[in-house]
Amino acid sequence: MLDQKRILVTGGAGFIGSHLCKRLVDAGHDVLCVDNFYTGRRQNLYELLSNPRFELARHDVCFSLYVEVDEIYNLACPASPIHYQFDPVQTTKTSVHGAINMLGLAKRIKAKILQASTSEVYGDPIVHPQTEEYWGNVNPIGPRSCYDEGKRCAETLFFDYRRQHNLGIKVARIFNTYGPRMHPHDGRGVSNFIVQALQNQNITIYGDGSQTRSFCYVDDLVEGLIRLMGTPDHVTGPINLGNPNEFTIKQLATSVIELTNSSSQIEYKPLPTDDPKQRQPDIQKAVELLDWNPTVQLREGLKQTITYFDRLLRDEHSPAA
Ligand SMILES: NC(=O)c1ccc[n+]([C@@H]2O[C@H](COP(=O)([O-])OP(=O)(O)OC[C@H]3O[C@@H](n4cnc5c(N)ncnc54)[C@H](O)[C@@H]3O)[C@@H](O)[C@H]2O)c1
Repeated sequence: MLDQKRILVTGGAGFIGSHLCKRLVDAGHDVLCVDNFYTGRRQNLYELLSNPRFELARHDVCFSLYVEVDEIYNLACPASPIHYQFDPVQTTKTSVHGAINMLGLAKRIKAKILQASTSEVYGDPIVHPQTEEYWGNVNPIGPRSCYDEGKRCAETLFFDYRRQHNLGIKVARIFNTYGPRMHPHDGRGVSNFIVQALQNQNITIYGDGSQTRSFCYVDDLVEGLIRLMGTPDHVTGPINLGNPNEFTIKQLATSVIELTNSSSQIEYKPLPTDDPKQRQPDIQKAVELLDWNPTVQLREGLKQTITYFDRLLRDEHSPAA
């Protein structure tokens, strides 16, 4: 195997992190996953736990970490509104102190470091689709601010470490991602709709369902993160990673009902505060610099995700559970 590395993944027991750990181990790298299990779960890593190339440690990134690795993927942070708003002070701490600690570590051991940033840094955008040059339209004092501003501050720290210490940094702005191992109760569109449809419950749409989203399948996203980490030193990002195909929330709900053969009906509820009306990535930079393009179509990705949730719900309801 060429170029075997030691790689740290923070937040590796979460949805995206667990897929990333698996891909890196499968590629022959040694992977250290650290997670405080705030939203992540050991079950997400079952396949890897017995692999000698994989190590799992319980650790909160708000505290210093001393390990020797070649690369760091910093994913630790709750990502869904329900989870990041539950303890908003902790969310900001995780983003900001977590970034400071991981950047400090990267500087000490001269590792490359990638930050899982987010399309939320664009807030409720008035530019559409969003390019990386757009500075965003973010409410600094609302209920989503702990996440949005925490992630914006983390980006600032990454670029200051670059300017001040010439650190090898990569910043990925991740747009809506979905797939197996999403948290079943994270309140996000895809997981909510699938869980409701599989149980033939009403599907809840907040607003009139005309707000649009773009959905990136997790395998495509992980491929983008790995490609970004592999770029030459001068490529720092920020780089948008997401699927530019836009769907309305109502279209998503209808597809889920159809693919699950569900008898669920759609129910409408008021839109929460600061919910962005439109979100679509401009991925020109990722196409040019990473030669990356999402390949998994929504229906295909939904089928994989439905299979996962179907199994999960059956296990939860089985007598042995
Ligand atoms: N899923 C998406 O659509 C999406 C979109 C944009 C950005 N992101 C970013 O990608 C990353 C991963 O998101 P995800 O969807 O896998 O979310 P997730 O909640 O499934 O995973 C986050 C992981 O971080 C861990 N964590 C939280 N606080 C921690 C702390 N203080 N110390 C150590 N571990 C901690 C959690 O236990 C969990 O395992 C996050 O940084 C998120 O902001 C995700």
